[in-house]
Amino acid sequence: MALCCVNMKTLVASGSSGIAAAGDFLKQDQVVALPTETVYGLAGNAFSPQAVASIFEAKERPLSDPLIVHLLDVSWLDRVAVLSPELKKKVMALATAFWPGPLTLLLPKKETISDLVTAGLETVAVRIPSHPVMREILAATDLPLAAPSANRFGRISPTAASDVFAELSGCIPLILDGGPCSHGVESTIVWPHEDVLQILRPGPITEEELKPFGKVLSQSVHGKAPGSLKSHYAPRKPLAWYDPHHSPCEEIGLLTFSQPRKGYGALEVLSPSGDLREAAANLYGALRRLDESSVTSLVVEPVPEHGIGCAIMDRLRRAVTSKSVA
Ligand code: TXA
Ligand code: MG
Repeated sequence: MALCCVNMKTLVASGSSGIAAAGDFLKQDQVVALPTETVYGLAGNAFSPQAVASIFEAKERPLSDPLIVHLLDVSWLDRVAVLSPELKKKVMALATAFWPGPLTLLLPKKETISDLVTAGLETVAVRIPSHPVMREILAATDLPLAAPSANRFGRISPTAASDVFAELSGCIPLILDGGPCSHGVESTIVWPHEDVLQILRPGPITEEELKPFGKVLSQSVHGKAPGSLKSHYAPRKPLAWYDPHHSPCEEIGLLTFSQPRKGYGALEVLSPSGDLREAAANLYGALRRLDESSVTSLVVEPVPEHGIGCAIMDRLRRAVTSKSVA
């Protein structure tokens, strides 16, 4: 796909004037980077093929990878999805428990949603975000907003406005700064079908939290979430798993869960107190800082794989590029 960067001036704004400007751009079918409680998104009017095409172009994202549509509340579901009475009951139970918040549901799409948004699939991914700035913009525009994470395709998702600037300045007109994202990893994607809730991407809403709402399956379904590629969330430097048998080295940057270690050229500790939620919130920022440091390669320690630790390990497995840095 052609590179869209045409040295467009990218403004970074905040507060009520920023929100007003973002609303104006979105109503004119332009794209804007916005904060959500998970990661920053690159938003556009989900009903405008022109806006949706601009999202793909700015991210250099393949058209085969569909977008999540963000809604203000459940009354908007009918604008984008078609729910049988049975599915509606399931969705409302999940909505009451988890929305607004970091849960995305795959639902049968309405014809108002173009194939560009869903990559030709019969389902549309929807989420009702909780970030107050995102909600103000949804309310002000009255538009369902298609928004993938605001990074270049395959790169680390942005959790601060400065991260978005590093990824997309020159390609988009506006970045709205709403401070750091509280969850720090992308929403949990769930496909409710037949009598199961199938997790297609682990995230802040955990398998344990979903269990009261039905039988939960967490193994991946081949091809069901087209964006769940192996090489995703990747830093530019080679990244391998930490091996305690290898000696530390000043050329290597280390990402650990809770323990600092000596002898590395750069060190990031995700949560000194061993709190997985704090670790998730710090994950992408820490990877970015290591990527920008002077070391030549990176190693990462696994985190405990329960609760949101499953989402962290999912992202790290995709980010690791080689078995060993030795
Ligand atoms: O937390 C989040 O979900 C963030 C914020 C901005 O809302 N968004 C986000 O979007 O992570 P994105 O585009 O980076 O990831 C969305 C994932 C992709 O892997 C995509 O393939 C999958 O959702 N997806 C979207 N629509 C789908 C559909 N109809 N069927 C299957 N997978 C879908
Ligand atoms: Mg993404």
